[in-house]
Amino acid sequence: MTGPFTIAIDGPAAAGKGTISKAVAAALGLGHLDTGLLYRAVGVKTLDGLAPVDAAQALTSEDLQRDDLRGPEAAQAASKVAVIAEVRAALVDFQRAFARRAGGAVLDGRDIGTVICPQAEVKLFVTASAEVRAKRRFLELSATGQADTLEEVLADVKARDDRDMNRAEAPLKPAPDAVVIDTSDLSIEQAVAQAIALIETRQQQP
Ligand code: DC
Repeated sequence: MTGPFTIAIDGPAAAGKGTISKAVAAALGLGHLDTGLLYRAVGVKTLDGLAPVDAAQALTSEDLQRDDLRGPEAAQAASKVAVIAEVRAALVDFQRAFARRAGGAVLDGRDIGTVICPQAEVKLFVTASAEVRAKRRFLELSATGQADTLEEVLADVKARDDRDMNRAEAPLKPAPDAVVIDTSDLSIEQAVAQAIALIETRQQQP
């Protein structure tokens, strides 16, 4: 694959889209951009005291290397700055340029198939029940020694879903032509295999 080829993978928190995106990019030799990291980087800068729009407009590649981007505080801060239209606008060009890079790209996020890359060659919407997603996130957090209970993680997941799906600007929803993968009852291997099979079918279409 040499020319631009964009795979958009959207879905709610902890549905497995990050894992699937990384595996798809590795298997097919594509670049991968986790667009949630951009919002997390803006979010943590607001926790440092910056105004959200200023933080988004001045985002640097070092901001994306910070080691505090993965935790629950960064996630909630990201979801809060992500409702602001000017924050989203400041991040569009970078995402679109990445999407059209030579050799092809996988972007995962919330609005890739609907707003950032409506022309993407493949659009997947990866989802799972809130309970299954909370349990996965709880196990991940427990493994890193974080003390939230399962109930707290579920409340966090639901609060973020509610904010991401009900915002006016680029709300989380499947593009009309997205293929939905529900990972509630799938292993990681099964979910990745489904995604790759769908992409390969699409690549073979004229
Ligand atoms: O994918 P993630 O959990 O790292 O995303 C963190 C937050 O960033 C998410 O709750 C909403 C926001 N986000 C967004 O609004 N649009 C994207 N394309 C990616 C993330």
